[in-house]
Amino acid sequence: MKTLVILISGRGSNMRALLEAELPVDRIIVISSNPNAEGLKTAADKGVQTVCINRQTFSDRLAFDTALSDEIDRYRPDLITLAGFMRILTDDFVFRYHRRLMNIHPSLLPSFTGLHTHRRALHDGVKIHGCTVHFVTPELDHGPIVIQAAVPVFSNDTEKSLAERVLVQEHRIYPQAVRWFLQGRIKLSANTVTITDTCVHNSVIYSPELQK
Ligand code: GRF
Repeated sequence: MKTLVILISGRGSNMRALLEAELPVDRIIVISSNPNAEGLKTAADKGVQTVCINRQTFSDRLAFDTALSDEIDRYRPDLITLAGFMRILTDDFVFRYHRRLMNIHPSLLPSFTGLHTHRRALHDGVKIHGCTVHFVTPELDHGPIVIQAAVPVFSNDTEKSLAERVLVQEHRIYPQAVRWFLQGRIKLSANTVTITDTCVHNSVIYSPELQK
């Protein structure tokens, strides 16, 4: 029996992509740090079990992370995915789920760790931008990279148009990475991930036909 936990804080479009991907799992639980997260309703509408651990009701990060991990451990998940989970986790939390905690980040890591990635990409004039699925390690946005997708940056792009182009790719690569994990095809050695039994490379290049 395979179990997936998805952690969200807001809109939940990546969560939706995971829920709609028909992943090889028996059980999915969505946990939100925010009682008003739009994603909670999306998940409930799809009949998925939801839980809220409200960050605002905890005095500090440690107390919140402890409550969160107590809840997660009830389900004994194979994998925990951060999908727009806007909380920095304690090292203890990250170590507890070593090699089974994944995140999606809206940039081509290691460029643009942290927030406002699209604004910073435009500011720096990069010509290629994208998104990354990676394992989580204590250093923010630095863990082993599972898959990346690249998109072009156009001269007339705004933060919004660039974010939208990247988001389409996020919704493609996150389910792909999770599927590989659940199929047991991710080999992690040192900081490098390889995907076994495939001739497909774990990078995706933007292709306009896929936008239609
Ligand atoms: C996504 O861009 C994700 O990469 C980042 O936060 C955003 C969350 O969007 N970590 P959503 O909640 O999945 O719609």
